[in-house]
Amino acid sequence: MKTFKIGLLGLGTVGGGTVNILQETLSEIQRRIGHNIEVSIIAVRDLNRSRPIDTSSIQMTDNPHDVVNHPEVDIVVELMGGTGLAKELLINAIQNKKHVVTANKALIAEFGNELFSFANENNVMVNYEAAVAGGIPIIKAVREGLAANKIEWLAGIINGTGNYILTEMKKPGADFAEVLKVAQELGYAEADPTFDVEGIDAAHKLTILASIGFGIELQFNKVYTEGISKITAEDIHFAEQLGYQIKHLGLATRTENGYSLRVHPTLVANEVLIANVNGVMNAVMAKGDHVGPTMYYGPGAGAGPTASAVVADIIDVIRAQSQNVEDRVPGLGFKADQLESAPVEPIENSVSSFYIRCFAQDHSGVLAKITAVFAELEINIEQLYQEPSQEKPEDATLVMVTNAVKESRFNQALAELQAMPEIGNDIQRIRVAELD
Ligand code: NAP
Ligand code: HSE
Repeated sequence: MKTFKIGLLGLGTVGGGTVNILQETLSEIQRRIGHNIEVSIIAVRDLNRSRPIDTSSIQMTDNPHDVVNHPEVDIVVELMGGTGLAKELLINAIQNKKHVVTANKALIAEFGNELFSFANENNVMVNYEAAVAGGIPIIKAVREGLAANKIEWLAGIINGTGNYILTEMKKPGADFAEVLKVAQELGYAEADPTFDVEGIDAAHKLTILASIGFGIELQFNKVYTEGISKITAEDIHFAEQLGYQIKHLGLATRTENGYSLRVHPTLVANEVLIANVNGVMNAVMAKGDHVGPTMYYGPGAGAGPTASAVVADIIDVIRAQSQNVEDRVPGLGFKADQLESAPVEPIENSVSSFYIRCFAQDHSGVLAKITAVFAELEINIEQLYQEPSQEKPEDATLVMVTNAVKESRFNQALAELQAMPEIGNDIQRIRVAELD
């Protein structure tokens, strides 16, 4: 039985979970792989912090370079986060011919093209299962399990913190800031929680999913990104009245001319399975041309689920050591020289139905003026709901859902509504998804 040595960068939520699994479940893992795994060295920022796990037999350091330069380490596991020092350390590790496992979606989405190409040159692996959808083995499912298919689209709830917040906000009196604080305490949120709330974390994950699904380069800067910070409890309530749940979705679609990559709050009809994914749970749907629509569900954040994916990656690296290098699963699922370069289309080209909530002066003729704007642009109002406004007593709250329409045309209608003195600027609009 050979011993593979791990050097760990970070011993926080995910790092702690990883050491915990390797301590508690080692004999079961040995039964699977026929090899031993030993954590040799761990870098942390603060050596004096008390840790909930036993590190007495592990070399601890506050210099992360000690980990990537350690002569005996076979696999560097990066669980510290960030894209500055973490990138420098992983480049260093690869130079030193060490395999890499990371949960760092920001690093993969923004610098993965460079990292994978450097890893290929050095014949080492970069595994990142934990970077998308926490404990769901979605990278393996899409990259390997669906390898017989041309992927048509991917859609998912891929941020646990955001889904937790949207779910908790359904409870009467829930406060956005309070709920976010709990998500942070539970270890779900990023070091900077605006990454969760403003959709950046989901955009990182969607970048990765699109790349492995379609065989395209990682293109984080092309993802249209909207967060959940402007979603109110009122929107959640009205959406429910109309038969929908509001979910923060990542959507990657093949289009006629290329691809559409977007992350935004979305109304999903109650009867669609993904509308019922709540709390920290994530779900990813992938439609392949042969398999049809598939869905994968599980916890999207937290120590145990994320570490489960990290340890599976470590096991994959160990197993791949007996394979020819050219037969290993390519980092992005497709051979590096086979990635396509079709364009990512601007959001204005996408087509969807829209939910609109606005305050309108409550007198005759106003509704007629609003519907005339839509009629002129050939946009159909499919659902309409009105009730006296709690916030502005002289107004009515008006909620509408349109038919599917090109976003640029909808924007024209929106601009005309915003210019109407009877309505004003304060208009909420949320896209509606059809997932079939
Ligand atoms: P965390 O709890 O904040 O842990 C970060 C760890 O890195 C800490 O142990 C910290 O040391 C250490 N560290 C930070 N900067 C360092 C430096 N300059 N030198 C040495 N050590 C340093 O973060 P986390 O939640 O585990 O997340 C880690 C990574 O996993 C991130 O990339 C995150 O996006 C990703 N991820 C997290 C989750 C999740 O549910 N939390 C899920 C999927 C992916 P100290 O302990 O001494 O401060
Ligand atoms: N902050 C992330 C989330 C962690 O809430 O989904 C898992 O990637």
